[in-house]
Amino acid sequence: MYVRERGPRTTGPETTPRSGDHTLTEAILLVGGKGTRLRPLTVRTPKPMVPAAGVPFLTHQLARARAAGVEHVVLATSYLAEVFEPYFGDGSALGLSLEYVTERDPLGTGGAIRNVASRLRSGPDDPVLVFNGDILTGLDIRALVATHSASGADVSLHLTRVADPRAFGLVPTDADGRVTAFLEKPQTPEEIVTDQINAGAYVFRRSVIDSIPGDRPVSVERETFPGLLADGAHLQGMVDSTYWLDLGTPAAFVRGSADLVLGRAPSPALPGRCGERLVLPGASVADDAKLTAGTVVGASAVIGAGARIAGSAVLDGAVVAPGAVITDSLIGAGARIGARTVLTGAVVGDGATVGPDNELRDGVRVWCDAVLGAGAVRFSSDA
Ligand code: GTP
Repeated sequence: MYVRERGPRTTGPETTPRSGDHTLTEAILLVGGKGTRLRPLTVRTPKPMVPAAGVPFLTHQLARARAAGVEHVVLATSYLAEVFEPYFGDGSALGLSLEYVTERDPLGTGGAIRNVASRLRSGPDDPVLVFNGDILTGLDIRALVATHSASGADVSLHLTRVADPRAFGLVPTDADGRVTAFLEKPQTPEEIVTDQINAGAYVFRRSVIDSIPGDRPVSVERETFPGLLADGAHLQGMVDSTYWLDLGTPAAFVRGSADLVLGRAPSPALPGRCGERLVLPGASVADDAKLTAGTVVGASAVIGAGARIAGSAVLDGAVVAPGAVITDSLIGAGARIGARTVLTGAVVGDGATVGPDNELRDGVRVWCDAVLGAGAVRFSSDA
């Protein structure tokens, strides 16, 4: 049961900020999910550590949090937890103080938030930013915190509008932006009462985090938020229709990486200038190879003569042979793509080999270390 510990509830976003308003300095990032939808990219690497535009995706989120004034971040880890700290260390390279908390068994999104409460330095009324570790967004974090303070909410949620809300839980709000319900995925057209969905970034009053049960798995989306609402807590929605993408699937991940390279998705952590391509130091690209539409080529990767690569990510140490044509695809670390092979909307796992003259399309996933012989798979009959 949620018990509010402070004075009378305020009502809308236009409410005068309380005296002694609290500034944002802390964030929790949820990075413990198994990332099953993103396999095989997540077989060896947790989703937030898969490189997007040349650096582990999480780097972009940390850099954006830092730019919004966050100083202390607690990473809630579980799946492949051991890889985060060796890379990010104490966070000082990003100007942050980073801590890591690992769940012995996954606690779900709400349980993970509660599980790191003992590491928070904020006072009971202070705002704490909470981020899903797989969202790429241009959200104005400071505006979300300002909305939180001005409305006096217990939790404030970034909401985004989607063209087709059928695949999402819906979050309607009233005229003041106050959340009125959390609705399951709509089954019928009548159930589509709004196009607003939970965008996976929240500001919690710190004391609300302490009220989440700490001894069992809890889903923040399915249990904590609906429970808070039922108990009369104030949940505020802030609709911000800036860039937003859930990088949960391979197609979305590849899109997100390309959008970072192109500058469509903002990040202070891009390791180079925005443009059609980003080639990391140590990569070797043939003079007549064509890299376009936000393609990134990782360190020590090799791109052969006449290869054409658009909107794709070639991770560190991968080799693309001459004449390959790669579109909207991801080539895992150390993978090899044979000459003249055509990949469209494909994911090739780390260390896999796709021989020459293959044609792979439409969401195909080649598992890590798999070996596909010459001309083994084609979609067209021209071979
Ligand atoms: P799928 O398995 O493909 O659905 O991906 P996922 O495991 O990442 O789940 P989902 O996308 O629903 O998770 C949303 C965010 O919460 C992601 O950033 C996950 O890393 C994180 N997350 C999900 N479950 C847990 C958990 O049990 N513990 C922690 N620490 N984080 C979690």
